[in-house]
Amino acid sequence: MAKPVLLTGIKPTGDLHIGNYFGALKPAIDLFMTGKYNAYLFLADYHTLNFIQDAEEMRRLSRECILAYLAAGLDPARAVVFKQSEVTAHTELCWIFDTITTMPYLERAHAYKDAEAKGREVSVGTFNYPMLMAADILLYDANVVPVGADQKQHVEYARDTAEKFNRVFKEEVFTLPEPIIQEEVAVVPGTDGRKMSKSYGNTIPLFASRDEIAKAVMSITTDSKGDKPEHVFAIHRLVRPEGELMALYEEKRGKYKELKEALIEDLDAYFAPIRAKYDELKGDDTLIADVLAKGGERARAVANAKMERVRAAIGVA
Ligand code: ADP
Ligand code: TRP
Repeated sequence: MAKPVLLTGIKPTGDLHIGNYFGALKPAIDLFMTGKYNAYLFLADYHTLNFIQDAEEMRRLSRECILAYLAAGLDPARAVVFKQSEVTAHTELCWIFDTITTMPYLERAHAYKDAEAKGREVSVGTFNYPMLMAADILLYDANVVPVGADQKQHVEYARDTAEKFNRVFKEEVFTLPEPIIQEEVAVVPGTDGRKMSKSYGNTIPLFASRDEIAKAVMSITTDSKGDKPEHVFAIHRLVRPEGELMALYEEKRGKYKELKEALIEDLDAYFAPIRAKYDELKGDDTLIADVLAKGGERARAVANAKMERVRAAIGVA
């Protein structure tokens, strides 16, 4: 029996931190590496264009994002890895979906409503984001789509759009996708105890050197209310089993500096192999181009075959 199709898209919008690693990269890679799926992972660069409108920055972030996934353990032999912009069927199908979608329906999307509420002038690309995302998902007959909770509604839009297309054109062209929401992935706190986020400047960068890790850890705010420094502990438990930590925090009760030093040591040891792999891959000039060329070719074969069915179903072929 054919394996179910797993697909997800990633938007490279900034330098990665360990919150991104534990909240997005690691859970996705773990799923991809189970071997249970026919898997696709793509860089959503045409989505990113809504946010990054600088060619050099687009190139740098795209490259670093793919490198980060490979360094963190994604084996390109286990997934079709490609760039959205290299498969033109995505934007073509987006247009076709636009013609069967109404404005009021898109006006109900959270991402659009949030942008509106902030008083920004919303671009047509941002407004239409859910239709491009529907095309991304439906071209490959994805059954399951792992996403963060904020993207659940977009996957539901893709599902509604598949149903609508099949109904309007009286043919089962598209498979209905389901989101997989990693509810159990807790929010990783930053050095100030709030959610770690590039917009708060409270991050520990994923590819930090030992010195950078030390600087970030030393800046973690501590309070003496409880019997252990909560913000230090909350990060520590991500990289060392909680059982071991309880004993350590008991033994070093009140010795915040020593506990921070232990955290520096453990963070450094945990991320050293990923960092080493990143440095090794970074030196390989052809690696990313090769991975994307192969992935692009496989993705185009699947997407173009689907487009033939779509064109026949709507009557332009
Ligand atoms: P940031 O908040 O730094 O701007 P993004 O919004 O770009 O991060 O998030 C990219 C991905 O990383 C999303 O899937 C998001 O859920 C995840 N993520 C970001 N910050 C955290 C965090 N502190 N804890 C867990 N997951 C996070
Ligand atoms: N919108 C997603 C995000 O902001 C990225 C994305 C684009 C995506 N296309 C997708 C995710 C298709 C899953 C499937 O994170």
